[in-house]
Amino acid sequence: MDRIRVNGGKPLHGRIAISGAKNAALPLMIASLLTEDMLVLDNVPRLADVNLLQRILGNHGVDVMISGKRPGEAEYTGQTLSISAARIVDTTAPYELVSRMRASFWVIAPLVARMGEARVSMPGGCAIGTRPVDLLIMAIERLGAQIDIEAGYVIARAPNGLRGAEIVFPKVTVSGTHTAVMAASLADGTTVIENAAREPEIADVASCLNKMGARISGAGSSRIVIEGVSKLNGARHSVIPDRIETGTYAIAVAMASGDVLLEHTRPELLQSALDVLREAGVTIQSTNEGIRVARDGGGLRPVEVTTAPFPGFPTDLQAQLMALMTRARGTSRITETIFENRFMHVQELVRLGAHIQLDGDTATIEGVERLKGAPVMATDLRASVSLVIAALAAEGETMVNRVYHLDRGFERLEDKLSACGADIERIRG
Ligand code: EPZ
Repeated sequence: MDRIRVNGGKPLHGRIAISGAKNAALPLMIASLLTEDMLVLDNVPRLADVNLLQRILGNHGVDVMISGKRPGEAEYTGQTLSISAARIVDTTAPYELVSRMRASFWVIAPLVARMGEARVSMPGGCAIGTRPVDLLIMAIERLGAQIDIEAGYVIARAPNGLRGAEIVFPKVTVSGTHTAVMAASLADGTTVIENAAREPEIADVASCLNKMGARISGAGSSRIVIEGVSKLNGARHSVIPDRIETGTYAIAVAMASGDVLLEHTRPELLQSALDVLREAGVTIQSTNEGIRVARDGGGLRPVEVTTAPFPGFPTDLQAQLMALMTRARGTSRITETIFENRFMHVQELVRLGAHIQLDGDTATIEGVERLKGAPVMATDLRASVSLVIAALAAEGETMVNRVYHLDRGFERLEDKLSACGADIERIRG
């Protein structure tokens, strides 16, 4: 298993190209199931999750052709996926595949909408909490699917097609909103989604679906209206920049100090996180090339942050911010409201010398003078990268184990950081 070795203490200087968003690319790939025509996606990140979803879609009979520049080539611009779901050969998504990636449960929506049936395994547990799918099931049931649960599988049937309906989510859910939007696109009549998730990835998927002939308005707000159509066509769409990758590198620069331009990204995708970094004393400037992040050797101010659905502070940056606050001058408080149990990084940060106390959903972080390198490992993607961030400021060597978590969501992390002066390398095997 690969590991990442970091020798801390080097400031970061230069440019980092931000990749396409994992959490937009995955639902966009799933949306290809809605049409028998070709869907071409540009700016798709090279990630283990993208490869895995490709295999999962292959199981349904979907062909994916990949082209684009290779990592390391000069004008690096993500990859292009040409996806054809002309013939769906299987409407079952088996446990072996769904349990490896939760988002693959989302195939239930396009499969039942286009094929009239879907049999999808329940995803099971996951490192950041229980993560139920009840609201996804509620959404397709509201659209007229008959739902049965048998032997760990959700079976959705709508032999005469789905019907538009009003769907009111009792809590904001990204997965529920993606499901409802995809299913309603091919339903008969109008669907209104209330309390929809407002994440930029929802608007990105809706914009692609509209290019495919869907009639969706209001995506990006909490009320989405969808006029169902009988058929969707092929289209070409470029994935939005990854706001979590952007925020992660901004926090890395804040931690290591230095001056870096984050290219191919946009500040409005992560305004709340940038505001928190400014409050902590980090210089953030929007330029027409991207976002410039800088910090001189001066101290960091502590912050109080509560995670919330977009446009609030994202749960996917909570671990990274906590790593940063381990070095602030004073006491910070971070409250996690989206996922219970998303604090797996705390014990590992403590191994590096951080002072953190957990009380229910709130972590209290007492800033320390210095962190010291140590072997660490983590059980999810964002927790792993928070350890790399801490390692950038720790004295001596930190070995981050279980790098496969990082490869699920960060493209060429060690290349991007070492090009800016970090002493970081992957140790294979
Ligand atoms: C998406 O997960 C992201 N994943 C997550 O990214 C992200 O952390 C999360 O949204 C929140 O922003 C992808 O886009 C692939 P939710 P999702 O449905 O859609 C509860 C990463 O590191 N809920 O918005 O699964 C749920 O338990 C990750 O890239 C129900 O109760 O999140 C949670 O408390 C991990 N019932 C809350 O809603 C349901 O049926 C929000 O979940 C569905 C969700």
